[in-house]
Amino acid sequence: MTSPGASESAFRVVDLIRKKRDGGALSASEIGCIVDGYTQGTIPDYQIAAWLMAVVLRGMTREELAALTHTMLHSGEVLDLGFLPAKKVDKHSTGGVGDKTSLVLASLVAAGGLYVPMISGRGLGHTGGTLDKLESIPGFRVGLSVAEFRRVLKACGASMIGQTEQIAPADRKLYALRDVTGTVESPNLICASIMSKKLAEGTDALVLDVKTGSGAFMKKEEDAVFLAELMVETGERMGKQMAALITNMDQPLGRMVGNAMEVEECIAVLHGGGPQDLRELCLHLAAWMFYLGGTTKTVAEGKQLSAEMISSGRAFDRFRQMVELQGGDISAIDDPARLPSADHRVDVPSSRAGYVSAIQCEHIGTACVILGGGREKKEDSVDPAVGIVVHKKIGDKVADGEPLCTIHCHSDEQAARAKQLIAESYQISAAPPAHRPSLIHRVIHKGESH
Ligand code: URA
Repeated sequence: MTSPGASESAFRVVDLIRKKRDGGALSASEIGCIVDGYTQGTIPDYQIAAWLMAVVLRGMTREELAALTHTMLHSGEVLDLGFLPAKKVDKHSTGGVGDKTSLVLASLVAAGGLYVPMISGRGLGHTGGTLDKLESIPGFRVGLSVAEFRRVLKACGASMIGQTEQIAPADRKLYALRDVTGTVESPNLICASIMSKKLAEGTDALVLDVKTGSGAFMKKEEDAVFLAELMVETGERMGKQMAALITNMDQPLGRMVGNAMEVEECIAVLHGGGPQDLRELCLHLAAWMFYLGGTTKTVAEGKQLSAEMISSGRAFDRFRQMVELQGGDISAIDDPARLPSADHRVDVPSSRAGYVSAIQCEHIGTACVILGGGREKKEDSVDPAVGIVVHKKIGDKVADGEPLCTIHCHSDEQAARAKQLIAESYQISAAPPAHRPSLIHRVIHKGESH
C-alpha cells in the first residue's frame, strides 16, 4: 500500500511544492511522500492544493507521472483475477453524450471468450455515466462486493460495478480536491486518476476511447491525442497491452440521450440493429479488445468476430445473463417497453429550413442533466426515464418546423429550459456542410498513430 521510499521520507512538503512551482521534477519517493501523506491524512488540503496547481502549471516528466500513477494505484487494493482462465480486457471512455458503448462491449467481448471486469463511473458534468444507465434496469445492482464481482465474472465473463472503497482511495481524495480547486484540467493528473483506477482492475489489456469535439472534455483534437499518448505509455510501462481510439464527439453518439433510453438503444445494437454510428464504434472497440486480448491475430478479424457475436445472438444472451446475475429484471431486457419511461413528449422544431452544419453537443448533454437525467450536485438522484431523441445529426436536411429532437419528460414546464438549450445548440445552414464528422479520427498503438 505504500509507494517507493515513502516510509523513509523526511521531506518538508513546502520544499516539494517549491520545487514543482519552480519547474523541477520530483523523485518517485518525493511523490510517494505527498500522495501517501495526503491519503493517510498527515498532509493538509491546502498544501496538496498548492502542489496540484503547481503540477497543472508546470506539468510532469514521464517518470513523475509513472510514480504518481504507481502510488495512486497502490494506495488501495489491486484485484488479482489470475483465477480466470483467459485474458482480462477492458475499455475506458473519457466521456461523452449518448456514449453508451460499455453496455454493449462487456457482454459482446465476454461472448467471444475474454473476461471483462468493468469498474465504471457515474455521470460527470454534461456526460452520462455507465452506472446510472445500468441502474435504470429495475433491480440491477452496481454495488457488488469484490467477492460477488468475481463470482459474476467467472459465471458469465463480464461484470459491471462501481468503484469500491478499497480501489485507489488516493484518487477519491485527490479528485474531490481537484474538483474544487480548478485543478481537474491537467493531462497528467487526468491520466494518473483514470489509469490508477483502471489498472486496479487487474486486466491484461485496456482500450481507451478518447473523445474529442464539442461534447467532449477535450474539445481540441491535439489535447485528446496528448492525453491518449500519455495513458497508452503509462499503461505500457506497467506491462499492459494498450491502444487508444480518438473518436468524434461533435454530436451525440447514436440517437438516444438519457439513461433508460440508452439501455434500450444498446439492446437494439445487441440484436443487430440500432443506429449505424453506435454499432460501428462498438464493433471497432470490441475488435481492438479482441486483438489486444490475443483472441484474434488482426483487428480486422476482431471486427468480424464482433459482428458474429451479435448476429448469432450470443452477445445479447451474455448481456441478459449478466443482468440476471446482478439482480436486474430480465423481463425489461426482453421487452424494453418495460424499462422506465416518461410519457410526455416535447418536440424541438427547427427555426428554418436547411442543413445541420454543427451541434453544440455539450449543450445536449446539459439539457439531459436539466431534465433530471444527470446530476447538478453530487448527492442528486437521477431520473432514469427522461431523455432526448436526436432526430437530426450533422449533414442532415431539415425543413422549417421539423423536429430536431424530441424530449421525453413529465411535463411542458420541465422541458422548457432544455428545449431552448437544444434549439440554440443546432446550427442550420443553407448549404450542406463539406463533411460529416468521421467517427474514428485515429488510433494510437505502440507509439504509432494509425
Ligand atoms: N475522469 C477521471 O476518472 N479522472 C479525471 O481526472 C478526469 C476524468
